Amino acid sequence: MAGKIREVKDAFGKVHQFAEGLEGVIATTTEICFIDGQAGKLMYRGIPIEQLAEHSTYEETSFFLLYGHLPTSRELGDFIRRLKSHRAVANEVFDIVRNLPKSAAPMSMLRTAISSLGHFDQDAEDDSLEKHYQRAEHLIAAFPTVAAGIQRIRKGLEPIAPDPELGHAANFLYMLNGERPTDYAARVMDVALILHAEHGFNASTFTARVIISTLSDMYSAVTGAIGSLKGPLHGGANERVMRMLMEIGSADRAEDIILQKLRNKDKIMGFGHRVYRALDPRAKILMQFSQKLAEQVGDTRWYDISKKIQEVMEREVGHKGIYPNVDFFSASLYYYLGIEVEMYTPIFAVSRVAGWTAHVVEQLKHNRIFRPRSVYLGPAHMDYVPLDQRTES
Ligand code: ACO
Repeated sequence: MAGKIREVKDAFGKVHQFAEGLEGVIATTTEICFIDGQAGKLMYRGIPIEQLAEHSTYEETSFFLLYGHLPTSRELGDFIRRLKSHRAVANEVFDIVRNLPKSAAPMSMLRTAISSLGHFDQDAEDDSLEKHYQRAEHLIAAFPTVAAGIQRIRKGLEPIAPDPELGHAANFLYMLNGERPTDYAARVMDVALILHAEHGFNASTFTARVIISTLSDMYSAVTGAIGSLKGPLHGGANERVMRMLMEIGSADRAEDIILQKLRNKDKIMGFGHRVYRALDPRAKILMQFSQKLAEQVGDTRWYDISKKIQEVMEREVGHKGIYPNVDFFSASLYYYLGIEVEMYTPIFAVSRVAGWTAHVVEQLKHNRIFRPRSVYLGPAHMDYVPLDQRTES
């Protein structure tokens, strides 16, 4: 065991040691992702993330995560064709979204919509591996359409049909904003999707693996993963980062506000990570793209505030291994791409579905149900008291 070890005596006097929050606990094996948190290194199936960000596309990275090898050009061409053919989503799914309260959070709407997709899969109960791979492809293809459609409906607009001439990232931006993105904007989104696609046994991926380990279905696993990603300690942090940048407003106010938050023992969103004790390599890449975009759009305010926060945080809590994580610079980057803040976490899901589904398939290949234990701290014994003999306390 590693990490923060807690020692407690249970209700019967027996002493137990355990890792709170499963920190450092090895739950099973994987071939999909390797992270060296001390050195700030991340690899998908052995390939450093920097190489994938520079040379790959989201489509190729998804194939690689799912099937375990880099595709040949024929395999990649076929995969892209299959993804394009599965981008469209049943109208009934959008009808469900239309009937949800307009005040619902996009991540909650996404959770409902993706869950409902399962009802339109006539083979949803077929648990052959072949069907799981097909379902994974369908989900990777459909997530951008569903997420973009949700945002259009929330704004009182009609969802935009996918454009088969556009790649995965460009088409997502097109369905979201209603206009074809520049090549640069499409490439930035493509890289952001590659960087968010996979990250080992994070909370949402673990959620998906726990669900599929009962031999439930892929839609349930992915729906549960969305719910897990939504939380501000996980994927929901990117939205909170942008709201914090807006609250700060200008780089010269950043230091005082961050110091006050630290004095209040507030967690600064976009900083810290269970695994990394060094700069998250994804944050490094996103920081560079955020800077370039800021210069291109001629508004460096959000990037400047981010850099000031980074400087203050490294000075104040860097010794604890607290550095920017993937959510920190993705916030300003998405802002510069013209994306509304409430869509930041759904974008994370649009990307991470590749990792989730790859893990679901891997879990099924050598499955054993996840069933840990807890230390019982309740009363050692109590007798049942009939209702008429109970008193109000
Ligand atoms: N701001 C200030 N201090 C922090 C932060 C932060 N963001 N994160 C950790 N710390 C401090 C803690 O206060 C603690 O200090 P202490 O030892 O003096 O008490 C120490 O660093 C260790 O922190 P833990 O909370 O034990 O770390 P844990 O591994 O449980 O939590 C987590 C990791 C949830 C990511 C945490 O760092 C956090 O809440 N960060 C902010 C939310 C965030 O950005 N989440 C996204 C993570 S990336 C992702 O999921 C995609």
